[in-house]
Amino acid sequence: MAWFVRQFTRSSPVVPKHFSSLTPPSLRAPFYCTPRPYSSTTMSKFTLRWGILATGGIAEAFARDLWPNPECRGVKDIEHTVVAAASSSSADRANAFLKEVRAADSAKAYGSYKELVADPNVDIIYVATPHSHHYQNVMLCLEAGKNVLCEKAFTTNAKQTELLIKKAKEKNLFLMEAVWTRYFPLSIYVRDTIKSGKIGPVSRTYADLSMSMSPETTFDNKHRMVNPDLAGGALLDLGIYALTWVFQTLYTTQNNPKPPTVMSAMRKYSTGVDEQTSMLLSFPPTDARGEAHGIATTGMRTAADPEGNGKAGPSIRIQGEKGEIQVFHPAYRPTRTKLILTDGTVEEKNWPQPGPGKDSGWKNGFGGSFQPDGEGHGMFWEADECAHALKEGRKEGKYESLDESLVIMKVMDEVRRQNGMTYPQKIETTDYPVEL
Ligand SMILES: NC(=O)c1ccc[n+]([C@@H]2O[C@H](COP(=O)([O-])OP(=O)(O)OC[C@H]3O[C@@H](n4cnc5c(N)ncnc54)[C@H](OP(=O)(O)O)[C@@H]3O)[C@@H](O)[C@H]2O)c1
Repeated sequence: MAWFVRQFTRSSPVVPKHFSSLTPPSLRAPFYCTPRPYSSTTMSKFTLRWGILATGGIAEAFARDLWPNPECRGVKDIEHTVVAAASSSSADRANAFLKEVRAADSAKAYGSYKELVADPNVDIIYVATPHSHHYQNVMLCLEAGKNVLCEKAFTTNAKQTELLIKKAKEKNLFLMEAVWTRYFPLSIYVRDTIKSGKIGPVSRTYADLSMSMSPETTFDNKHRMVNPDLAGGALLDLGIYALTWVFQTLYTTQNNPKPPTVMSAMRKYSTGVDEQTSMLLSFPPTDARGEAHGIATTGMRTAADPEGNGKAGPSIRIQGEKGEIQVFHPAYRPTRTKLILTDGTVEEKNWPQPGPGKDSGWKNGFGGSFQPDGEGHGMFWEADECAHALKEGRKEGKYESLDESLVIMKVMDEVRRQNGMTYPQKIETTDYPVEL
């Protein structure tokens, strides 16, 4: 866990004092609001009842982010409530987790995932196991008739993702990959700026997520980051964010996007998984622009932000012929952008994560390091999208379709194929059920 502590210390965001002028009106007021216990849920609002599958690091950050009143971020029509959690270790562990995330006393603690998926009070399940387990766990949820938000990377390989999508469609259920960054107001701003034509058609995006952590001293070989049995490696865990930026700027923003071709290089760690991967994606021409290139890089040893203060420059550059948009590290939770146009215009913006505010007594973070008092981690945006989708009857996320998740999984499959990186058959299999 030490690396996560370091990661968040080094990358602690610049917390701005105000919202930018381009902040959507719904977010401008009020930034701070009173937190509320789940019991005060307003009946007229659409309430999404969450079940949390697994009780590790990210499950805790996600469930904590469900607690502040959505009105803190200008979202007035929905509520979230955690009604159950399951741990594969024990019901006691699930119970401790529920207390940790301030769930209501009535929330159910289960000692197995099977019990969770059978709970009739659960509307949607957040799957937060290592990626190696996503296929088996999501299939379990879908078979039981539950809607699912599944952590990234969606699955170990594209075939598994394809079968999960097929199952969700067959059962008419909601399914979404939890690429939380896509739902940030910052990402919406970037995509909208691209679509406005301000920087001209985007012809190149550079995106890096490199974390400055030597795997030898940071992880033992059983840790999910380096363990092949848990689908370890930089690509699926960190590289997906570099790919997210390449895709949401060169693919999501197009009317008829086409999958890219890919060339790649990979440096392996002693356990056989990748510790550094570099990808060059070429997107075919569209109606709006010619061929576009995405350069996505990820690494454990190198740093996107070596001083931890953003002075190294942006880790993402989205370039058109009239200018570029820069996004600063970390690619998964950026809070700063800079628009630079060739006519001399420069606009810098800060994008704080809203929350109940200073002195609220509530904090969130990941891996033992917390954001400033009362500031959200930012996972609630994707949770809000799930609530809105279910309220509106949609079956997938608005800012990353299931088709796009599948294309990205195919890119990662191809990168692994080009570099001879395989995982054990038991986690690559599409058989179900398989005991892992
Ligand atoms: N969105 C983000 O910012 C973000 C950040 C970090 C990680 N993630 C993603 O979230 C997933 C989990 O990551 P994490 O950092 O939360 O991992 P973690 O702390 O190791 O937690 C994983 C949990 O999965 C359950 N689990 C079931 N079988 C397991 C097995 N064989 N080995 C290990 N754990 C097992 C355990 O919970 P129980 O014992 O309760 O069953 C464990 O606590 C990964 O897919 C990762 O990519 C996302």
